This record gives sequence, structure tokens and C-alpha cells, in this order.
Amino acid sequence: MNQLNIPPVLVTGATGRIGRLVIDRLLDAGVPVRALVHRPEAASALPPQVEVFTGDLTVPESLDPALKDAGAAFLVWTAPPQTAASVVERLAAHVRRVVFLSSPHRTPHPFFQQPNPMATLHAGIERLIAAAGLESTIIRPGMLASNSSPWWAPTIRAGETVRWPYGAAETAPVDDRDVAAVAALALHRDEHVGGDYVLTGPESLTHAAQVDVIGDALGRRIAFEEMTPDEFRSLSEGTAPGPVIDMLLAAWSAAVGQPAYISTTVADVLGTAPRTFHQWATDHASEFTQGS
Ligand SMILES: NC(=O)c1ccc[n+]([C@@H]2O[C@H](COP(=O)([O-])OP(=O)(O)OC[C@H]3O[C@@H](n4cnc5c(N)ncnc54)[C@H](OP(=O)(O)O)[C@@H]3O)[C@@H](O)[C@H]2O)c1
Repeated sequence: MNQLNIPPVLVTGATGRIGRLVIDRLLDAGVPVRALVHRPEAASALPPQVEVFTGDLTVPESLDPALKDAGAAFLVWTAPPQTAASVVERLAAHVRRVVFLSSPHRTPHPFFQQPNPMATLHAGIERLIAAAGLESTIIRPGMLASNSSPWWAPTIRAGETVRWPYGAAETAPVDDRDVAAVAALALHRDEHVGGDYVLTGPESLTHAAQVDVIGDALGRRIAFEEMTPDEFRSLSEGTAPGPVIDMLLAAWSAAVGQPAYISTTVADVLGTAPRTFHQWATDHASEFTQGS
């Protein structure tokens, strides 16, 4: 325990996109943080106040030292599903509260209702959390704004035309910082227990428009050209599992000509407007101009 006697929050996925930002928000709020780190070498990127534990979600007992005397856990699941039940059992044995990073698989919009193995995994973990009797908040971001960095930054840095399937598919990219801020509040403030939060950005933008927005942020025009789904599938071979590529293509195909689903939850929970995609692109401009 610490001076304020707040039990620490264990953050899994601590070196990942959302977990890393959740750590910052918890520290800002004065909440002591433990990080579960999968690859110990990645821990050097964490703030020095964080207590680091090495652990692996596929080896449930490896979580025990990190969970001892913790009060809450942020659960990010990118591992295979087999050990999920055992991990949730361990969480329930140690902590009172879990905030789970899921997806909007219950939202009745075509973009979210295509065949999706991640949605099946998320739904299964949500059932385990409910059955374990844990206090819980389920966080369901739509498309993360940060996806555009691995998708388009290498091409944009090279000064080439962005070629992508379904240029007219509409999504409402949500800023990772808004997702993390909601998750952090749910971890340390009681009023979010039982919350089921679909989080989106404030505006529906086609893929082509998102590339334009990045161009605006960089102060130059970026050419966009549509590629076929088959070309995307063959170019993506070896970079992501086939079912993930199929999932994306099916969701984008269903989102063509469909304004994206937009929720007011970020503003409702945080009391501030969600960040726009332009804001995200401006704040991350260096990713599109520098680096490998
Ligand atoms: N991308 C989207 O638009 C979107 C939208 C909604 C929901 N989501 C969900 O968000 C989640 C991913 O979150 P993210 O993007 O923040 O994660 P991320 O950046 O992909 O990072 C994954 C994190 O999990 C850790 N990890 C991987 N395997 C592990 C294991 N076996 N044991 C312990 N830790 C392990 C990684 O550590 P190492 O790097 O050391 O392996 C890393 O810290 C997924 O469930 C995804 O479905 C994503």
C-alpha cells in the first residue's frame, strides 16, 4: 500500500496502445499502478513510478504476484482464448473490479455485425467476468484512430499514393487517449461500475477522407487510390492473420455508404468533447513524417 492507502491497479497490455495511456491517466489521478509486462525488455518504456511485474496471460499462475493486494485490473486480451477462464478466476480471487477492453459487438450497426473471431472472444470473456461476480466496466471502442499509423504512415512517409480497399467505407475513429481516459476513470471511480461503454469519435469519415485529414494535418495533399479486396488480401499476407484480414474487409464492405455509428459516451463520461481525427492526426504528425 501507499501513503493514501489506495490499492494498486494492475494494468495488463501495459506496453500496448491503450494500456500504456491508461497508466498515464491513473498516475495523473494519483492511483498507484502495477504493470503486467509480457516481454520484460519492453518495461523500460514505462514511467519509473510503475511497479513492474512480468507475466503471461497464457500462463495464468504467472499473474499471481502482480495481483496480490491489488484493487482493480485493466484487462486487455490479445492472447489465444484457452486460458481466459483461468485468468478471470484468478482476477476474481484477488481484485474487486475489472475494466475490460472489448469491442462494440453488440451494437446493431452493419460495421460491427460482420463475422468476427475477436468479437466471439470478447463476448466469451465478458461472460466469464459477469459469472465471476466481479465489479466490471466494459469498454467498447470502435475503430481506434491509431490504426491509421501502421496502415498508412509508411506509405505517407515515402511520399507515395495511399492505396486501400473500400475508400468509401465510413468509420468514426476514436482517439486512443479518450478510450484510455474512460478506462482509467472506470478503474478508480465507483460510478462506472456496471458501465457498458461504446466509444467512438465525433464524426463519420470515409477512408479516403481520413487520408485527407492526415494530409491537412501535415500541410500537404496525399493522393488516395482504391485497391481491390483481393489485392489487399494478398498484400497483407504474412502481416496479419487471415481471419483478421477477412474480418476487416467484411466490416469495411458493410460500411460503404453507411454513416458510422456515433456515440456520445466519451463526452458523457469525461465531460469534454471527444477528440477529432484531425486532432489525433495533428498530435501524431511526426509518425507520418519521421522514422522507419
Ligand atoms: N484496433 C482497434 O481498432 C480496436 C478496436 C476495439 C477493440 N480493440 C481491442 O483492443 C485490444 C488490443 O489493445 P491494444 O491495441 O492497446 O493492444 P496492443 O497495442 O496490440 O498491445 C497488446 C499488449 O498485450 C500484451 N500481450 C500480448 N500477448 C500477451 C500475453 N500472452 N500475456 C500478457 N500480455 C500480452 C503486449 O505485450 P508484448 O508487446 O510484450 O507482447 C502488449 O502490451 C484487442 O483486444 C482488440 O481487439 C481494438
